[in-house]
Order: sequence, then C-alpha cells, then structure tokens
Amino acid sequence: MASKIFKLIEEEAHRQKYGLEMIPSENYVSDAVLKALGSILTNKYSEGFPLRRYYGGNEVIDKIETYACDLAKKLFKVPQAYVQSYSGSPANMAVTMAVCEPGDVVMGLSLASGGHLTHGAKLSFSSIFYKAVNYNVRGDDWKIDFDELEALAKKHKPKLIWAGTTAYPFKLDYRRFRKIADMVGATLVADCSHITGLIIAGVHESPVPYCDLIMTTTHKTLRGPRGAMILVTERGFKKDPEIKGKIERAIIPGIQGGPHNHQTAAIAVSLEEALKPSFKKYGAQIAKNAKVLAQSLGTVSETHLVLLSLTGYGYGLGYQAQYGLEEAGITVNKNTIPGEPASPFYPSGIRLGTPALTSRGMKEKDMVKIASWIKRVLEEIRGLDLPKMQDMRKDFLREVKLKLRKNKNLKQIRREVESFAGKFPVPGIS
Ligand SMILES: Cc1ncc(COP(=O)(O)O)c(C=O)c1O
Repeated sequence: MASKIFKLIEEEAHRQKYGLEMIPSENYVSDAVLKALGSILTNKYSEGFPLRRYYGGNEVIDKIETYACDLAKKLFKVPQAYVQSYSGSPANMAVTMAVCEPGDVVMGLSLASGGHLTHGAKLSFSSIFYKAVNYNVRGDDWKIDFDELEALAKKHKPKLIWAGTTAYPFKLDYRRFRKIADMVGATLVADCSHITGLIIAGVHESPVPYCDLIMTTTHKTLRGPRGAMILVTERGFKKDPEIKGKIERAIIPGIQGGPHNHQTAAIAVSLEEALKPSFKKYGAQIAKNAKVLAQSLGTVSETHLVLLSLTGYGYGLGYQAQYGLEEAGITVNKNTIPGEPASPFYPSGIRLGTPALTSRGMKEKDMVKIASWIKRVLEEIRGLDLPKMQDMRKDFLREVKLKLRKNKNLKQIRREVESFAGKFPVPGIS
C-alpha cells in the first residue's frame, strides 16, 4: 500500500499550484533539483571533507561535494566555500564558533528590526553562549541606524558583526559596515540568505569585497534545496589565515556529523542553474515585481520583500491579515514592524515577497492585480469585528479562523485567485 504521505504531498502540491506563495523566504525548485534531492545519495555516510573522510566508499561523494564547492566559488568569486551545513541556522552557528570563543560579543540587527534569530536574539544559541548586542533600524525611515551601530561597536568591541536581514526592504551599505568593523577589529560576516538571488543578478551589491565571511541559505532567492553555504573571501583569509580549519572544525565535529549528500548534490544543481544568464533575468524580475507590489500597497521595496504595517487597522492584527489572506489563497506571514507596538506573536505587520511568484513567470502587471486582492482582503477583515487578542478569550484564534472560513467575500476572492494562479506553471509541479 502506498504511504499516506504521497496523498498528502499531492494535497500540498495542489495548495502550492492554486495559491499565491508570498512568503519571501520561499521558492519553487526545479525538477532537476528535486531529482537530485530525492536520489540514492541519501544512503551514504561521509563524515569529513573530500579526500579526508571517516568512512569508505566516498569516491563519488567526494566528486559531488568538490563540484558543488567549485560552483559556489565560481558564482561568488571567492577562494573557499563550504556546502555541508544542514541549513542556515547551523551554518550561522558554525560561523560564530569559528570566529568567537564562548562569551565573546556578537552584534546583529535586532529581531524586531528585521534581523535573524541567530544574529543575537534572546533564547537563540547566539545569546545563550555569546554576549549578544543588537543594533536597530531608525523609527522614522526603518533603515539601519549606523550611528547607533557605530556607538555600540565602540562600546562593546564585538568579535563578530552580522550584516544580514530577514525582514528588511532596503539595500545594505556593506561599505559602512566594513568601516565600523575595522574601527573595532571585528570580523564582518554577511548573511545574505534572503538576497543572494538579487546579488547574483547584480541588483544588489556583492558583499564579497567588504566582508570576511559570507553565509547564505540555498533555498530562498537562490532557488535551491534547503541548505546553506559558508564562503571565505580573500579578506577573510588575510584577517585570519587559520579560518579554514576553524570553520571545518566548527562544522564537524563542532555541530554536525555526516553531511546530507543528496542535499549537497541538489545545491550543486541549483548553482549550475544560478550560473546561467537566465538566472540574472530572474533575479532582476524579483526586484521589479517587489517594487511594483510595494507601490501598489502604498509602501516601498528595494529588495524581494514588502514589509507592510497594519497599524492603520489596529495594533497586533498581523495574525488576522495572515489568516484572512490564507483563506483567500494568498500565503504571507505576520511580522513585527520596527518599533512594534504589540508583540512578536501578535505583531502589527505582514511580510510578503515575490521570489516564488516570479519563478512562475509573473510580472509587474500581475503584482498590481495581486495587490488589489490583498487590499480587498484587508478591507474585508477590517469590517468583520473579529475576536482580538486583547479580549483574552480562550481559543480566540480558532474563533478567528472559523469566522474567516465562513466568509463569503473571502471565498469569492479565493475563487478568483485560484483561477488566476492555476494559469501559471509551477516548477517541479506542473
Ligand atoms: C537572514 C537569515 N539567516 C539565517 C536563516 C536561517 O535559515 P534556516 O531557516 O535554514 O535555519 C534565515 C531564515 O529565515 C534568514 O532569514
């Protein structure tokens, strides 16, 4: 009997095809990436690095991993690359372990300002084992407050400064980061997980000339399988000639055991795709789409994402928007906004992105259409008087979902969305 799972995969494929995937960290991988990911390479153990393994039978795996690293070096024009980290968070942990001793100061953008958990958020390894100091964005224009960053760096003398974001709609000024890192002797690490595809397309500046190390996940705008890469730049080797051994020891035995070889192979396939001229066009289109989507929603974006404040509707209502849009077939995530007046679980904004829609071939005119559905949903929710967190009713979230599910206007929007989305092919599904 076929596993129950295959039926559920079909159900999820239907959701992905007939809905609009607008979570900025998500994408659709190609058939070729899926094929490598689902291959027999998952059967093999290969702790260690090419030609330095703890297990026999790794002749082919060595070729695969070396090829993946070579492609990464070529794509980013860096002298050293690692592809074994299981995902972005363990890769950031490996980087931190390679650069810092426990208790050293690490600096990163605060979660509330659009930073990532691993850059020094409370309860993450980065603040449990290290002394985390967070910098923020300015309240007026939501851009990184470099004056604050400089003052904090001079005061706390960080060993590592993260230049990377997860909910930030503007370009990053790596030159300014470098200047501050040099003032205090810090290692500067770019975490360009979200924007790698834009960097490859030349829409965003490459961090390579400015940073010592780079970490990127492989599954966001890069459009590969879940995974991550750690890159060492020329600068990085100059800053610490021992960095290679430190990163390798942090990956294994520091954090991981055997690498996921099927994942390594799929990363290689996605890097081949990213090296093609067509990928540059794709990356440029992601940004064009985000710009139009933002404008249509009354805000701005220089990246692949839009951070939309809903404070005009009330505080802490991001979850209502997320659930309402989900009922209408549009997947986004609730998100804190800078200076969040409510809480991380009940934030006052939503985060939307264009990478996955762009992979389906959608263009600027489609973004205008999608923005109008989003606005209709938000208006509908506004008129519903849904139970609120402040009511402190048990199970109020379930009540909200049930009320939204029964709503006729949201059902109508869903029908329109499904008919629209169904016309666009989905890599890996259609
Ligand atoms: C900037 C940044 N770094 C790291 C990560 C962590 O990646 P993962 O979820 O693969 O652990 C993310 C994930 O969203 C991210 O946005």
